[in-house]
Parts: sequence; C-alpha cells; structure tokens
Amino acid sequence: MPDAVTPSFLDSIRAIVGDRGLLTDPNDTAPYSEDWRRLYRGRTPAVVRPATTRELAAVVGLCARFGISVVPQGGNTSMVGGAVPAEDGSELVLSTARMNHVRAIDPVDMTMTIEAGVTLKAAQLAAAEAGCLLPLSISSEGTAQIGGVLAVNAGGNNTVRYGNARDMVLGLEVVLPDGEIWNGLRRLRKDNTGYCLRQLFVGSEGTLGIITAAVLKLAPAPREIAVALCGVGAVEDALALFTRFQAHDAASISAFELMSGLGMQFVLRHIPGASLPVETPAPFYVLVELATPRPNAGLRAMLEGVLEQALTDGIVSDAAIAESEAQRAAIWKLREEHSEAQKREGASIKNDVSVPVSKVPAFIREATVACEALMPGVRVVPFGHMGDGNIHFNLEQPEGSDATWFLAQDHAVMDTVNEVVRRYDGSFSAEHGIGRLKPYMMPDWRGGAELALMQRIKAAIDPAGIMNPGKVLPEEPAL
Ligand code: MLT
Ligand code: ZN
Repeated sequence: MPDAVTPSFLDSIRAIVGDRGLLTDPNDTAPYSEDWRRLYRGRTPAVVRPATTRELAAVVGLCARFGISVVPQGGNTSMVGGAVPAEDGSELVLSTARMNHVRAIDPVDMTMTIEAGVTLKAAQLAAAEAGCLLPLSISSEGTAQIGGVLAVNAGGNNTVRYGNARDMVLGLEVVLPDGEIWNGLRRLRKDNTGYCLRQLFVGSEGTLGIITAAVLKLAPAPREIAVALCGVGAVEDALALFTRFQAHDAASISAFELMSGLGMQFVLRHIPGASLPVETPAPFYVLVELATPRPNAGLRAMLEGVLEQALTDGIVSDAAIAESEAQRAAIWKLREEHSEAQKREGASIKNDVSVPVSKVPAFIREATVACEALMPGVRVVPFGHMGDGNIHFNLEQPEGSDATWFLAQDHAVMDTVNEVVRRYDGSFSAEHGIGRLKPYMMPDWRGGAELALMQRIKAAIDPAGIMNPGKVLPEEPAL
C-alpha cells in the first residue's frame, strides 16, 4: 500500500461510502485493475464505489487533500487502457457503477437526465420506453456506462446520421479535481453564456474531472427500419453504394458499416450462432441501415430498389434484406461481434483512425500494402463506420506467431498505418480516445499551440495532476 493510502485514509473513505462502497480485497479489485483487452494490468489499493454525486465529491475532496490520484472507471470497456490504474499501486479506482439512476425523461423537451453509471443499453431502453430514441450505439453498449461514453466522446454506428456523443450533450454534472460539484445540468437547446465548459469535459477521458450525470438530447423514435447485408468485391464498390444511398435519401441512412471477408470469417468461426445470410462469401461486406420517424415512408422499397440496381450494375455481388427483427439483430451481430471474434482469434493491434469518407478505399488499400510489407503474414482486418470515415484498421497476429512478440511491434505497426492516415488528412484517434496507448503520438500529431493549450487547461483545472494520470497527455511537456 503506498504511503498516503493508509488504513486510516481508507477508514475515512469508508465513512463516506459505507462498506458496500469500498473494495480492498485484491480478488475484488483485480477486475478493475485490468482492461478487457488485457493489455494493461495495474494495481490499486482500493476501488471506491460511491452511490451518489455527493459521496463521489467527498471522496475526490479527500483524495485531493491527501494528494492521492484517482482513476475514474465506468464499464471498463476502453480500447486504449483509459480506465486502468498504474502498476505502482498508488491510484484509487473510482467506479461510477452504483450511480445508475435515470433521473428524468421529458418527451416534450426530448431530453433525458441520467447518471454516469447507467449503461448505454439501459439508457437506450429508457428512451425507447418514453417513445424516443437515444441515437448512440456502440458494440460495448451493454457494459459501457454513460459517464465513460461521454468522457471519451464515443462515436459508434450512428455517427453518419446523428454525430458523436458530444453532439447529444446539453448539460453535465461534473466533480472537479478539488471535490467541488459543478452542476451544469441545463437542458437548453440555446445557451450562449461564455465558454462551453461541458464540451471541455466530453472527450477529456477523466483527466479534468469526473462526469457524474448528463442531460442528453433525444431524437424521435424510428417508425420504419430497413437493414441489409451486402457482399461487395472491393471497398471502392462499398463507397459507390454509399453514394447511391446518399443520392436517394441521405437523411435516412442511420448506419453504413464496412467489414472485410477475413473479419467475417473470424466472426463465423468464433461466435456461436453467427451465420452469413448471403449465399456467396465476398471480399468485403456492407451493413446498411435506413431508418425514419416518418410513417409509411417506403424505406423497404427504397432499399430494395437501390440494391437491385447495384446488383445489376455489378457494385453489389449478393444482398440479404432483414425480414424480421430477429434477422435484423442477426445481421447486426455479425458486425458487433467483430472485436470479440478478433480477440478469440489471437492478439490484435488496433488502429482506430479516420479519413475523409471519399478516401476510405485508397486508405485501406495503401495501409494494407504498407503493413504487409512491414510484417509479412500479418492479417489485415479493416472494418467499421465507413459512413463517417472511421475505420478500425486492425491487424491480427500472423498465424503461428508469438503473441507477445507481435504486440511488442505495436508502435511500428501503428506508426506505419498513421503515415498513410496523415497522407489523407485523417486522425490517429477517431472514437476510442488516447488513453494510455496513444499519448506518445500527441506531440507529433497535436504538438505546438494545440498541445500546449491542452497542457495549460490541464494545469489550470487539475494543478496537482490527480485526475487519471498518464492518460491523454504525454508525460513530458511537448515544447
Ligand atoms: C467497433 O466499432 O466494433 C469497435 O469500436 C472496434 C474495435 O474493436 O476496434
Ligand atoms: Zn467502432
């Protein structure tokens, strides 16, 4: 136990959160000390699980007084090690899991006020019960919690239509690094009153404060949804299909996802119950979802019409349209299980990158050539949110290679991919954030005035540096 985290300090924490709110047994704290990808294994003297914002604020206030660092954690689904404590056992994990109430939903204002520990899935269901749509969907939504989703500004499947998490945030409640509570839970569509503080915390990955509750903007619930899985011969064909849907009715596209033949093989191999709804396997696949709140909009006919023409023109090789909710879920499962299937296949290096949508085919082609030249035998598995330009350019270890050796090449591999990303004016982190994986890239990509400004903001809000240390910003000043 590090010096500052003494038994009497833990007694003071227990006095705030009670026995239920404090875990100190290493068996209990272990799951909170490791990320789901098993890339980072830290240690923590305690996991604190407050039940309310006041409790959480009191805990942070105490940590501030004793100079103890805190690592905020929601569902622990970070792809970049953003929620794991350091190896030296000096940091407390602060879990928001027990703060899981939907405080209010207003179908007239089209807003919901929810606490950080509500899972994204539970938030979606609550919105649906009120006849609305929370238009944010990510593969880990059953586990990921709203606080973490906002802290990383998650994107996911519906960005093409609704934007990223930050586009849904009207108000926030945040516990600041000194333990003060900022209540900015306003639900106004217009509110120009100085700097937009809520957007500073969204995407800050818990390095400036802990998001404890939020007001989210809702959308009208869809009345008609049409989903298809299409086989295509090349990514260029996927782009051609996208532009056809855009030309027909751009506003109805709610998801346009790309998968590779190899990624699909992994899903079919490792995920029980997964099956391909098209007859002929293809080099790439597209999942297209159209949705509208308008009654009798004829979406299904539109989907069929566009696909028939695309089949005739040779853009699509085969297509299956979901005929029921169960078929729709089965098609989505093929896409959503990509990460899990890759994990079961072996070690993978993830590149969560974005380029302009029009450059996706060229990016994938060039990055594939570059990675195969760097590491013969590496298995390239590009997939993701093609409709918004966010590709998960993931690489699976060469068959028969050693996983530890492969993972040790991560910087060389990521740097190779990023060189191509840079040529297309893309970003080295599209939706997963920076976490512990990518701070080293920040000086190169965001150096100069931009990084200096971020460092000044961090120093102003968290001068003692106790909020999620080692995440987002590089240790050394970039200038
Ligand atoms: C997804 O979209 O499924 C995840 O963000 C991707 C990943 O595993 O890289
Ligand atoms: Zn994604």
